Amino acid sequence: PEAITIQELANRMAERAVDVIRMLMKQGAMHKITDVIDADTAQLIAEELGHTVKRVAASDVEEGLFDVADNSTDIEPRSPVVTVMGHVDHGKTSLLDSLRHANVVSGEAGGITQHIGAYQVTSPDGKKITFIDTPGHAAFTAMRARGAKVTDVVILVVAADDGVMPQTIEAINHAKAAKVPMIIAINKIDKPDAKPERVRTELLQHEVQVESMGGQVVDVEVSAKNKTNLDKLLEMISLQADLLDLKTNASRPAEGTVIEAKLDRGRGPVATVLVQRGTLRVGDIIVAGAEMGRVRALISDQGETVNEAGPSVPVEVLGFNGPPEAGDRLAVVENEARARQVTSYRAHQKRENAAASASGMRGSLEQMMS
Ligand code: GTP
Ligand code: MG
Repeated sequence: PEAITIQELANRMAERAVDVIRMLMKQGAMHKITDVIDADTAQLIAEELGHTVKRVAASDVEEGLFDVADNSTDIEPRSPVVTVMGHVDHGKTSLLDSLRHANVVSGEAGGITQHIGAYQVTSPDGKKITFIDTPGHAAFTAMRARGAKVTDVVILVVAADDGVMPQTIEAINHAKAAKVPMIIAINKIDKPDAKPERVRTELLQHEVQVESMGGQVVDVEVSAKNKTNLDKLLEMISLQADLLDLKTNASRPAEGTVIEAKLDRGRGPVATVLVQRGTLRVGDIIVAGAEMGRVRALISDQGETVNEAGPSVPVEVLGFNGPPEAGDRLAVVENEARARQVTSYRAHQKRENAAASASGMRGSLEQMMS
């Protein structure tokens, strides 16, 4: 990971790349300008050329951003965060819509505009459940690859008239790899050709054993269309969450993950953030990826302006200088100087990675041409 191209090293020392290459040659290594050398070699060369080297490691900059060992005894229960997955057209969006509207006070129904791709629903037992509406499988994988663990429970939607399909299997594998418990929603139970029993058998073939098959995985037969058994599904999620015993410290600076972000014409950069620990407040100085800002406003899933958002609460954040990327982790820092240090370092890393892969590509293109 810690490496630099010969060109970049020469640039930073204001030396000619050819002199760097000559130095390396003296040490018995043949290189071209686009080659990447490791940090130790780079330091050696720089010192040979009479420069003083100050190495800044990622650990120096990132240190303390995320408080890994939070020994606080001040922890409280938090709501589960749920992601809905499943094969194309099996009814993921319909199910989320129905769950959301099942929860909307009548009279408001239909008039509600959904502002953000994440929202909270209250289960029949009065507990809140946070649903994330965005991640397709690709987004889920990308977030996981970037170390962002946002989901506590996966709802796997399988259409009863279609059964287990390729993306169902993919979702099963994702959930297993991420070690996230799954609840099966056998959807479209209203259809005349619905075969829920067949779904259970097919799941068994993919090592998902539902309770009626002697296993531990909970399944609920639902119809997103007719709003059948939605309360039962919510109850099952709530029960699963109780088993997970989700707790966190709400009274510390916020940490979270960017679910989506965009540049809004009127409002500037807008990021939907899931707060995971601590409490995010208006006025906080924040970093996410290579972007920083000061929280100017927080908007709830109901479209209301709020002053703060605690753990498991999804919120729209206004005040970033530029839109961060989905999957970026958000942290609150002490002051703007710290935020600038972190983001300028990350921006630099980003440019360098881009340059390295671009020069690598150019190199191989040249080879192809010659
Ligand atoms: P993608 O986002 O494309 O992967 O699809 P999806 O899984 O979100 O499915 P979506 O909710 O868009 O539903 C696909 C189709 O199935 C739509 O025509 C829905 O009206 C229909 N559908 C969804 N749920 C039900 C159900 O419970 N019963 C019946 N009969 N149709 C349903
Ligand atoms: Mg959909």
